[in-house]
Amino acid sequence: MTAIPALEPIAEDMQRVDALIRRRLDSEVALIRQVAEYIVAGGGKRLRPALLLLAAGAAGYRGDACVELAAVVEFIHTATLLHDDVVDESDLRRGRKTANAAFGNAASVLVGDFLYSRAFQMMVGVGGMRVMQVLADATNAIAEGEVLQLMNCHDPEVDEPRYLEVVRRKTAKLFEAAARLGGVLAEAQRPAEEALAGYGMHVGTAFQLIDDVLDYSGDAHSIGKSLGDDLAEGKPTLPLIHAMRRGSAAQAATVRRAILEGGREDFAAVLEVIERTGALAYAREVAEREAEAARRALEALPRSVQRDSLLELAAFSVARRH
Ligand code: IPE
Ligand code: IPE
Ligand code: MG
Ligand code: MG
Repeated sequence: MTAIPALEPIAEDMQRVDALIRRRLDSEVALIRQVAEYIVAGGGKRLRPALLLLAAGAAGYRGDACVELAAVVEFIHTATLLHDDVVDESDLRRGRKTANAAFGNAASVLVGDFLYSRAFQMMVGVGGMRVMQVLADATNAIAEGEVLQLMNCHDPEVDEPRYLEVVRRKTAKLFEAAARLGGVLAEAQRPAEEALAGYGMHVGTAFQLIDDVLDYSGDAHSIGKSLGDDLAEGKPTLPLIHAMRRGSAAQAATVRRAILEGGREDFAAVLEVIERTGALAYAREVAEREAEAARRALEALPRSVQRDSLLELAAFSVARRH
């Protein structure tokens, strides 16, 4: 759907990943094909598979299993999106109606389960206990992150560390797994594998911080999602946490009430507080620090075109508008 810099070294493999994703969506059950093909056809940035392929290349891997595992991480990601849009009651994704809006909540949840289990079938096909361990742990952590976030909704007491805990699990963990798997496939030494894992974790964190900024300030057309979904769910994301911290008593009360009540009515008032307190700039700063930490982690790896691309992807995760 969208051009991301830095992907030239893996352009061919990304096409193979795409073809594989389409092939492996196949099911005898028509509704599964329909819903799964619907969300996949919406595009998506395919960032997690790209990360896996680049990490594998940067670690010196030259085999084929990376294509299969790249499709696996994209399936896991897609499953989380199907579930997440039901939970968040979102109606726009990848520039089109969400699957739940088009086919209903039940179909979305069930096809999400299909994608998770298909991912696990594919993973077993690749084999390797470490590979399975990394993916099982990441999938489990995502579920924890989503449930933690559910518990945090409508709670204005959630602070920055609690927010970051959710981000690390629900988003950063899969980025971490994708990058780590590159090292695992390459049978890299432990320090190199940990460097890649750390890189993925920091990039994923930056990526979600910016997602939360864009939920208030993005262009709905570019991001392909509706703005204000987070406020509607009463999600205490960093822009709101910082606005309450820095705002006057009246400003903090406005944000507090919006978190407690949810809905979209207070969006304009909350946005004004966010802007006046510099909350989006602050969240961007934290994202920038994460991207910097990601780049530093890569210093442990030898120079390569793939490593250069990973460095660029860290910058993209903060600069992105989509
Ligand atoms: C959306 O991820 C969910 C978040 C972690 C913010 P992406 O922005 O990578 O979604 P697609 O795959 O490009 O649509
Ligand atoms: C990311 O959170 C969702 C997952 C990691 C599953 P969001 O709820 O912010 O993602 P979007 O904005 O719906 O893509
Ligand atoms: Mg969501
Ligand atoms: Mg979001």
